[in-house]
Amino acid sequence: MALISVCGSLNFDLVTFTGRVPEAGETISAGRFETHAGGKGLNQTVAIRRLLNDKDEVDVEMIGHVGNDAFGAQLKDTLTSNDIATDKVRVLEDGTSTGVATILVEQRTGQNRILISEGANGHTKYSDSELEKIFPPLTKPSDIRFVVFQNEIPATLEIMRWLVKNRPSFKIAYNPSPYKEVTRSDWALVDLLIVNEIEALQVLQSALTEKEVIGLQQAIQKDLIGGYKQVTAELRYLLSKKNSMAAIAITLGEKGCVFCSNELPEVQHISACSVPQVIDTTGAGDTFLGGVVSQLCTSHTLPEAVLFATRASSLSIQRSGAAESIPLYQEIRKLYE
Ligand code: RIB
Ligand code: NA
Repeated sequence: MALISVCGSLNFDLVTFTGRVPEAGETISAGRFETHAGGKGLNQTVAIRRLLNDKDEVDVEMIGHVGNDAFGAQLKDTLTSNDIATDKVRVLEDGTSTGVATILVEQRTGQNRILISEGANGHTKYSDSELEKIFPPLTKPSDIRFVVFQNEIPATLEIMRWLVKNRPSFKIAYNPSPYKEVTRSDWALVDLLIVNEIEALQVLQSALTEKEVIGLQQAIQKDLIGGYKQVTAELRYLLSKKNSMAAIAITLGEKGCVFCSNELPEVQHISACSVPQVIDTTGAGDTFLGGVVSQLCTSHTLPEAVLFATRASSLSIQRSGAAESIPLYQEIRKLYE
């Protein structure tokens, strides 16, 4: 039996599509407006659930906070209707609002700009006795337990440290987005690291000298994929500790993805899928993470998981919205039969 928990943010996304972003003091008329379920935590939870094969016996739960308002209720509904357990999504009764993301999507490119008002997500921190209840120990040693984190709640690192100390057999997946500084030794808490091309270098700044980072940047300028292969190898050293998977995947947008792990130390590259038209890239990274985690938990290899995740995120960018744009396991299997 496997249980995947995602501890993170839930946001209500307010999305405006526009030809261009206004200048300071300027008012312009925009395109359509949509509301969507979002937040990196919620998106990744939905992605994991939707990208698991129905036949796999895996439970998925979300851990986080919403306010006692209409947005919070809608976000919990999104989770429930996707067959995700919400008993650990607390509703705050003190008047704190649900997290909101104001998102501008550029119509021509599908690229987004996001402003987050964290609201209830700022309350996602726990005492040790609460953590004992939230993360009960495994009942059978053969059970698989994955816990997934991002950076839209305040206590990510504290919870990861607690887990490594008290639940050493749990695997930790970390998507450090939006990026916040982490001390070098804390990277060893992580089993699976998923970053985009900018975050990959930010992570290395905590471990390498400025000269070494500049060297890598120059290598990337000369040969993007070759340079990022070097970055991936450096990240693996950072994650390596006893028994760690030390699996890394760096997403490179239309240039695909590079990845490696302690088991498969040679860095590999997978190309992106060609996409007829990009509609909205919001949640593409979350979909990718969901693809990797869902497949790794169900006995697939890292190359299989990364290929599946690449396909899933290429479908998600052809649809608007974050959580709602995430495809189902069967859709991907059918498309690539
Ligand atoms: O990763 C995309 C998400 O980032 C959006 O859904 C938005 O809520 C922000 O958290
Ligand atoms: Na999308």
